[in-house]
Amino acid sequence: MERLPRLGVNIDHVATLRQLRGTPYPDLLAAARICESAGARQITVHLREDRRHIQDADVRLLRRELAVPMNLEMAIADSIVRFALKTRPDWACLVPEKRREVTTEGGLDVIKQKKKIAQVISKLQKGGVRVSLFVEPDVQVMKAARELGADAVELHTGRYCLARQGVLGRSSERIAETEFKRIQISAILAKSLGLHVHAGHGFDLKNVSAISGLQDQNREPLIEEFNIGHSIICRAVLVGLEQAVHEMLAAIGSP
Ligand code: PXP
Repeated sequence: MERLPRLGVNIDHVATLRQLRGTPYPDLLAAARICESAGARQITVHLREDRRHIQDADVRLLRRELAVPMNLEMAIADSIVRFALKTRPDWACLVPEKRREVTTEGGLDVIKQKKKIAQVISKLQKGGVRVSLFVEPDVQVMKAARELGADAVELHTGRYCLARQGVLGRSSERIAETEFKRIQISAILAKSLGLHVHAGHGFDLKNVSAISGLQDQNREPLIEEFNIGHSIICRAVLVGLEQAVHEMLAAIGSP
């Protein structure tokens, strides 16, 4: 049996750095391979409708070359669904998407968009793609996800993570406690409904452990999978900078 939890590394922001200048570097596939060899059990990318970081060609290349499963975060727009059916990632994580947002804000509205989401889930599953729904940790939402026929939910942990980082003002601690409970209750319910339970958004080295430590009654991790991006890429800047400077010193022949 697979040891849990597994880590999916979201490499969108490697592409963000590349798109910022239109340079051929950093090499996205090389980054994915480093994540794989370091122990990531999935590579996650978000092909946004505005293509601000990941490009179509990136997804095709990663799909061909990756050794580990690929999780494609995607909006439910028809053009993106057609693309997903052609590239056939192992997983599709359906997310809400707004053009002007900095990052994914809030979970999918599984109540209002029920019909459309159900159609997209069914199309993707028929195409051999398993589907998770990026949703708020909420009891009604877990039930709706089950009714819609999703394989998994990915619990949106953004608000919890921000609160734990103390950036939601004086109420941060209280919000963190409330969000923690919502995540725990939703994860227990989702698992009991037969859904796989994933989590993502805003995790860093400090705030992830309370959530990864959540267990079910059999002492198994409640959350099977964590999809984490921004904080890993930020940390990589710090732990990799020394080597990068050494390499450039050698390249310019600095004595
Ligand atoms: N999961 C989903 C559905 C997301 O949209 C994102 C952000 O792209 C993540 C996980 C990763 O979040 P972060 O970059 O904050 O770790």
